[in-house]
Amino acid sequence: MNMEFNKEKNILTLSGNGETLSFEFLNNKVLRIFKEKNDTSLIELSYKKFNKDVEVKNENGNIEFDFNNFHFVVKSLQNLDIFKDFELLTSIDLKVKFDEYEKRNYFSTNVKLENDIKVFGFGDKMAFLNKVGYYYRSHNTDDPNHQDELFPSLYKSINYCLFENNLKYLGFFFPSTYIYTYDVGKTDIHNFSINNFDENIDMFLILGEDVEEITKNYSSLVGHPYFVRLKMLGYSQSRWSYENEEMVREVARKFKENDLPIDYIHLDIHYMDGYRDFTIDKSRFPDMKKLSDELKEDDIELVAINDAAIKEDREFEIFKYLEDNNLFTTLDGKTYINAVWPGDSGFPNYVSEKTKEYFCEVAHNFIKTYGISGIWCDMNEPASFRGELPKNVEYKVGSKKYLHEKIHNIYAEHMVKSFVETFTKDNIRPYLFSRAAFATTSKYAFVWNGDNHSLWHHLRFSITQNLSLSLSNFMFNGVDVGGFGSDGNKQLLIRWVEADLFMPFLRNHSSLNTIHQEPYAFDEETTEIYRKYLRIRYDFVPYLYNLTYRMSNFGEMIVRPLFANYKNDKKCLTINDEYMVGEDLLVAPILTQDAIERSVYFPEGEWIDYLNGKKYKGNKSYVIEMNLGETGYFIRNNSIIPQFKGLNHIEKDKIDTLVLKVFGKKGKLSLYEDDGNTLNYQKGEYNIYDISFKNNSLSFKTKVNGYKSPFKKIIIEKDGISKEVPFKNEFIINL
Ligand code: GLC
Repeated sequence: MNMEFNKEKNILTLSGNGETLSFEFLNNKVLRIFKEKNDTSLIELSYKKFNKDVEVKNENGNIEFDFNNFHFVVKSLQNLDIFKDFELLTSIDLKVKFDEYEKRNYFSTNVKLENDIKVFGFGDKMAFLNKVGYYYRSHNTDDPNHQDELFPSLYKSINYCLFENNLKYLGFFFPSTYIYTYDVGKTDIHNFSINNFDENIDMFLILGEDVEEITKNYSSLVGHPYFVRLKMLGYSQSRWSYENEEMVREVARKFKENDLPIDYIHLDIHYMDGYRDFTIDKSRFPDMKKLSDELKEDDIELVAINDAAIKEDREFEIFKYLEDNNLFTTLDGKTYINAVWPGDSGFPNYVSEKTKEYFCEVAHNFIKTYGISGIWCDMNEPASFRGELPKNVEYKVGSKKYLHEKIHNIYAEHMVKSFVETFTKDNIRPYLFSRAAFATTSKYAFVWNGDNHSLWHHLRFSITQNLSLSLSNFMFNGVDVGGFGSDGNKQLLIRWVEADLFMPFLRNHSSLNTIHQEPYAFDEETTEIYRKYLRIRYDFVPYLYNLTYRMSNFGEMIVRPLFANYKNDKKCLTINDEYMVGEDLLVAPILTQDAIERSVYFPEGEWIDYLNGKKYKGNKSYVIEMNLGETGYFIRNNSIIPQFKGLNHIEKDKIDTLVLKVFGKKGKLSLYEDDGNTLNYQKGEYNIYDISFKNNSLSFKTKVNGYKSPFKKIIIEKDGISKEVPFKNEFIINL
């Protein structure tokens, strides 16, 4: 192997027999390994060169170097070993293979899997956390009847995974937007093979000491998830569809009558005129602005769905504009047409900046005219009912031309990018969420998991789907609570809201032709239990918002698998039915029909049942009884939980009370506060409070004071005692 080190770029290139293999040393503990770099100009990655020298040695024909506590031994241009703390973590083989079916060569990266190695990540896949034994294909796919691991492709293509060997971790990110296939030890239990047909070998290794650090480093490479509004931590009620304004009013009325917290009602496709985007069916919604204004009086806002494709209709302004300005994708020089909800439809070329600018403007007019607060981006895999878009559908961008096979997986990303400024130009944080996504999408939009079903195993997998998404930098997420397709029932809905109560995006949504599953749709008992849980959720909003701030600023997960927090506890690696919310809340719900007890594993420390105050010692499992309406929410002892009290809607300006719940003998909390709605935090308009508790005394100090808080009082609660203090920048109180 010949060796050349470009010190200016910090790239090491090895060569021999006309082949090369390069190592690019980057900041954030990222190492890029490539034979040839993939074209990443259509996604945004953020990295800089590592600004220190890396010492490279030639030892007996092997090239060796250390980078961020990892040791690399390159044995040939096709093979390298990676060591951590003097132990072999894995070996990687880089191969060119021939595919009999496609009749062409493809690039294959093979990672050695030893006995008990685990592989996590890959975003939304409906499966357990550990992906060893399964096969995946990253190709955004709309399949409303997906079941478990039988479906290797889902809505999102998130080419990231976290490799674990004996509690040491390594992240892999594959940046090509073409299809990858991942055979995670399915064909050969000792081999994880990552194959890409269309671009050369190129991958980013994400280094770090533990899951938390690697996740953060990966997050800074692909971009931290965007900072949502505080209100978006409230509850959303949805259905395909609340078909007219009376049905929408009825939802608002019933929530009010039943004293149920709610912040958003979602409008599915029936609000549109013939499923034409950004139009209103006036026979169903004669005065949308009046409706949205009325709801806002009650602190409820509307979110409207928007589908990727545009109805083919020359009389329809949007279709005409896009066609006249060559902003549709084309095939053989003509607008490419396939069928979606409106029937024949064209597929906008969202990759073009002109298309984005146009949609940004159209959406802005729409939300302003009708008082709509959020945009729900759907069918953007893109879904097409007459077969997939052919690979050679064209996207013209200036003098460049791209083919659909390169764009398919980032179609959704370019769609949602159109709508970011729709909100930010008014200094408002977007309410923007998407069904399809690529690895880099969460900095523009959050996601939900598409069409799950009202089935018990879909409830079970809602936990692991959300945790896998979280590990893959989609940290603001949620599934349709209650299940979208199929008919739900009382017990399932209750268990679902119990289980997913702390998922960042909390929305109950159900499909056309299924029975209603609003909280009041079954019986009085269901409504009561649901109310109890929504109240708990609303109480925890400041806790969740603090985590949301940390997510957007530092790449920290909101919900996490236990092994992310308890890095030395091997037991946590195999837990699929519990999750952590930040560091202080452990959720262990019932996920099985008719079950009234379950085993709960507690990691180190002491844990307090939030619902009944019972205490449990950690490093141990217990069988705990949980009848319908009871579930497992456990607080880590010695913590301080920030809460709101008794809200039915989250309107920051109207919230004058902050509650601090103290558990145990000591605790620390760094609490973030801002207006929860605008981008003013970027100009320093936020507060950070340092709160601590010890020796029975609570100290409250304002560390950053950039925002005028509407808080008037603070209530401190501990062991059933509650003390009230007028809100001030600094105080100490004995409990
Ligand atoms: C898709 C979406 C679903 C929506 C339906 C109708 O199936 O995933 O959430 O209700 O389309 O718009």
